[in-house]
Amino acid sequence: MGRFIINGGIPLRGEVAVSGAKNSALPLLAACLLTEEEVVLHNCPRIGDVFSMQGILEKLGAHVRFSGNTICVAAKEIETVAMPEKLSKKIRSSIFLLGSMLGRMRRAVFQYPGGCEIGARPIDQHLDALRKLGVGIEEEMDTIHCRTEALRGAHIRLSYPSVGATENAILAAMLAEGTTTIENAAREPEIVDLQNLLLAMGGKIRGAGNSRIVIEGVSRLHGAEHTCIPDRIEAGTFLAAAAVTRGELHLLSVNPGDVRGTIDILRGAGARIREEEDSLWIRVGGRLEPFHLTTNPYPDFPTDMQAQMCVVAALSNGVSRITETVFENRMRHIDELKKAGAEAEVKGHSAFISGVYSLHPADFTATDLRGGAALVLAALAAQGQSTVSRIEYIDRGYEALEYKLSSLGADIRREC
Ligand code: UD1
Repeated sequence: MGRFIINGGIPLRGEVAVSGAKNSALPLLAACLLTEEEVVLHNCPRIGDVFSMQGILEKLGAHVRFSGNTICVAAKEIETVAMPEKLSKKIRSSIFLLGSMLGRMRRAVFQYPGGCEIGARPIDQHLDALRKLGVGIEEEMDTIHCRTEALRGAHIRLSYPSVGATENAILAAMLAEGTTTIENAAREPEIVDLQNLLLAMGGKIRGAGNSRIVIEGVSRLHGAEHTCIPDRIEAGTFLAAAAVTRGELHLLSVNPGDVRGTIDILRGAGARIREEEDSLWIRVGGRLEPFHLTTNPYPDFPTDMQAQMCVVAALSNGVSRITETVFENRMRHIDELKKAGAEAEVKGHSAFISGVYSLHPADFTATDLRGGAALVLAALAAQGQSTVSRIEYIDRGYEALEYKLSSLGADIRREC
């Protein structure tokens, strides 16, 4: 288990390229199982969750080559319908393989998935959608046995626009007989990205990005080549890093429209941000104003940026209120931030944060992926030496974070 050692207090300056999106790459990799032909994904981030997904695909019998940021998956034969227990417990996205496996093999044996501990994260909506598509599901302890004679198109209405349940329902419906309609679907850019790959594979799907997605099942999908969209959460994390270190950054390879929620809050607080077609400039000269934000499904403010914005609030010029509505247990970074002198109180689902002029160095422990990124931001802002341990959480979702930050002037090194 490694840790970062960070000498903070240095304003970040320079240019940094945003990597491919973790939350796109994972369902895209799951989609590769829907065809026996090779699928090539470019701009795939080299992060822990992608390596875990690679491991699962290989255990299932797929041939995977991952070179630079291009990953090629050929699932000519699938050798088992049983998901490897250890790896699938490691990442929540292994759940997407359920839809793909059922599409391809009509059977899947699965353990309840793992992932960051940011709440109960049930999978009832995933399973309900699969049942509607004609899947029989038996749960035995923490193992789920799924089987179908034939997937049939269905009308699925999600009670909440869950990202994962939308993606799983799409993946299962691609090879079903007939038409599937998903109502109250999640509208995240990563779902549009999944649709684009599936179209390139010969699938018939429309509506991603809206609440209603329609899929006409086809009998087979073929190989394709696709480029993952940029990671809007990594982009937001760098914007927050510029804000807390009072620096100036130019982010390359980013879709500014996908980062809207974070841009709007930072601008409202006084950051100077300029948007270009595929890049973003940010300059922060002094303390930002306090702000209120509430996380909600896209296009509202993303829960995956909540923790990082707590650090921005902790250094702002007044009292901010940050409310989390998506996950119930996603404020654990607040106690860690208090170690650095942050003044914050959690009441129900909201954190009330009184900004201080500066944070002081501390020994932090990452609590989850995005919470861990927030602690790195706090350490970058605090004058003096901090440490962040349990960085395996951060490695799950950020590509080469310490190299990118070093290239912007940060003093950060990894100790294994
Ligand atoms: C995805 C993202 C994650 C992000 C989240 C919200 C991936 C790999 N992960 O996670 O980074 O934080 O979206 O944008 O893309 N829920 C249920 N039943 C279900 C499914 C979800 O009650 O069957 C609840 C969850 O407990 C949570 C809410 O719905 O409270 C949102 O979950 P969901 O959108 O499904 O998030 P994930 O797909 O897990």
